[in-house]
Amino acid sequence: MSILLHLLLLSVGSLAPAGAVTAPSDVAALAAFKAAISPASITPSSCLASWNFSSDPCRPGPSHFLCGLTCTTTGGGATATDRVTAVALDPAGYSGTLTPLLSQLSLLEHLELSDNAFHGPIPASLPSLQTLILSSNSFSGPIPSSISNLSSLEILDLSRNPLTGPIPQFWGSMSALRTLDLSFDRLYGNLPQAMPPNLVNLALRGNSLSGSIKRATFAPLRALEVVELAANRLEGKLEGWFFLLPSLQQVDLANNSFSVVEVGSPSQGQRLVAVDLGFNRIEGQLPAALAGFPALAALTLRHNRLRGTIPSEYAGAKEGVPFRRLFLDGNFLTGMVPAALLGSRELVGSLGDNCLEGCPSAAALCSPPQKPKAVCKQGYGVHGRPRWPHSYLDP
Ligand SMILES: *[C@@H]1O[C@H](CO)[C@@H](O)[C@H](O)[C@H]1NC(C)=O
Ligand SMILES: *[C@@H]1O[C@H](CO)[C@@H](O)[C@H](O)[C@H]1NC(C)=O
Ligand SMILES: *[C@@H]1O[C@H](CO)[C@@H](O)[C@H](O)[C@H]1NC(C)=O
Repeated sequence: MSILLHLLLLSVGSLAPAGAVTAPSDVAALAAFKAAISPASITPSSCLASWNFSSDPCRPGPSHFLCGLTCTTTGGGATATDRVTAVALDPAGYSGTLTPLLSQLSLLEHLELSDNAFHGPIPASLPSLQTLILSSNSFSGPIPSSISNLSSLEILDLSRNPLTGPIPQFWGSMSALRTLDLSFDRLYGNLPQAMPPNLVNLALRGNSLSGSIKRATFAPLRALEVVELAANRLEGKLEGWFFLLPSLQQVDLANNSFSVVEVGSPSQGQRLVAVDLGFNRIEGQLPAALAGFPALAALTLRHNRLRGTIPSEYAGAKEGVPFRRLFLDGNFLTGMVPAALLGSRELVGSLGDNCLEGCPSAAALCSPPQKPKAVCKQGYGVHGRPRWPHSYLDP
């Protein structure tokens, strides 16, 4: 009886995927991938050092293919085959190019090689690829237009590479793309005319992008939640429609050269939580309408050229949640500080380095001290025309 059961289990076992092997075309692609990486950069303790092709990559012997691969079994019975769905390597300092044979990994969904020294062409014929994460590598030159061929791509992260040139124009066709991160590259020129239509996260910080934020580019982005464009050379007017983008939650436009900010009247459904417009050249008054965004908890407008009083809307009467972080330091704000701001226990931030009255130096919110009167006078100038102190002309 027990022998019969044993035989039965054995025969079931031989039909089950345990007998599958990795598709030969996938094995060849993986071997070519490893062969294109400088052996000197494959240290003994690294993941790639364990890729020993005397084992089957998806069904390896002990101490072979310890990491880096995810496989799935396709088909059943005698035709069961293992296919590679993900390649994700450790940050071991691998140096090399990405072999064109990677395109044989036709079920590859996820390729992640961050914090290494890969260079050369970026793969563009991986029909199943959903995630491509190549941040902190050595890819250089312009962003290749062949990337638009990756039609299943949902996440593209090419941040912290020496990629240069303008951002290409092909994004409008990439309708699966939800996250685009090209931060800390060496990109310049205007923002592209069209973005991926279903984009949720846009990160382009730390480049040299210039020009303004255009309605034709951003208005179609109904799913856009996070906009990180800090530390560029963007300029001009931020128009009233921008903060009203329907899904917008976090906006970081710090360290640019914006000069005017308009804010449209929000609806109660608006989800905006955090806005950073610090270190720009924004003139005019604090936009009172920002206080009408029901979920807005963090607002930074530090180091601009704002004048006038702090609107009463910013204090006790703010709709929805009150501000939890409010940085208005380094402007030319005048008048009395609303008592409700000083009295708030939950508020962190700074109103310092302005021209305000009633901001006791003992209050944390009032540090650093207000500007000297003479500097304040310059900010308001003769007949209301400012003569900006030197430090405000070249932020
Ligand atoms: C691969 O593994 C086999 C068997 O364990 C071993 O004999 C061989 O030296 C290994 N090859 C490399 C390149 O480490
Ligand atoms: C685009 O993808 C297809 C299929 O994945 C491939 O055959 C073709 O060579 C790719 N084109 C480029 C420019 O990479
Ligand atoms: C903006 O610039 C200031 C002053 O140069 C710097 O301290 C800060 O780290 C920068 N912030 C960003 C987000 O680049």
